Amino acid sequence: MSKFLNVALPKGRLGERVYDMFEKAGFDCPSIKENNRKLIFENKEHMVRYFWVKPSDVAIYVERGAADIGVAGKDILLEYEPEVYELLDLGIGRCKMAVASLSDFCDDKRRTLRVATKFSKIAADFYSSKGRDIDIIHLNGSIEIAPILGLSDVIVDIVETGTTLRENHLEVVEEIVPISARLISNKSSFQFKKAQIERIRDSIRAQLEEQK
Ligand code: PRP
Repeated sequence: MSKFLNVALPKGRLGERVYDMFEKAGFDCPSIKENNRKLIFENKEHMVRYFWVKPSDVAIYVERGAADIGVAGKDILLEYEPEVYELLDLGIGRCKMAVASLSDFCDDKRRTLRVATKFSKIAADFYSSKGRDIDIIHLNGSIEIAPILGLSDVIVDIVETGTTLRENHLEVVEEIVPISARLISNKSSFQFKKAQIERIRDSIRAQLEEQK
């Protein structure tokens, strides 16, 4: 196994905030701040290697050991149930998974509910816990359009500011679960690189405590 600590960061603003936490934990890598299209950065001094990946792919890199640790949204962890350890709630990237519908939608409980979503497992688990039959329509994005065009009755999706719902005349019907970014670890890396990983986890936990 490589002695470098491989860290998968979610590309984008959230990932930059996460990198700052790692930097404060003593794992800085100044080249990452250079604004270019490079995706992999390493600092031999700290034996750390960062790479930017699509946020929804972080858990795949970590599960398969291409990354030792990474940061993934709780939505992805609930939906795909990757075999990883969830080490810490970073308290950032907060949003919620919710059911939404057009404001004038009237639910007839005797009918199968048509649910459009990117999060089929989360939706299936939620409705099965209520004993409700649903028909899942799996989409890959722009979920809000589905009820407008009559493709579905409701959607199960992420709501952050609520702007997308509002601008499409939809409203939250039920909240399913709060979501935030989590520090995750590959299971064998957590054994073999325990000292480094725990140092990062503990330092970030202390940073979060300080902010409270
Ligand atoms: C996400 C989510 C909602 C939107 C919620 O979409 O699926 O559409 O953000 O944010 P808001 O409450 O702040 O408006 P994303 O931008 O990931 O695009 P998508 O259409 O590909 O899902």
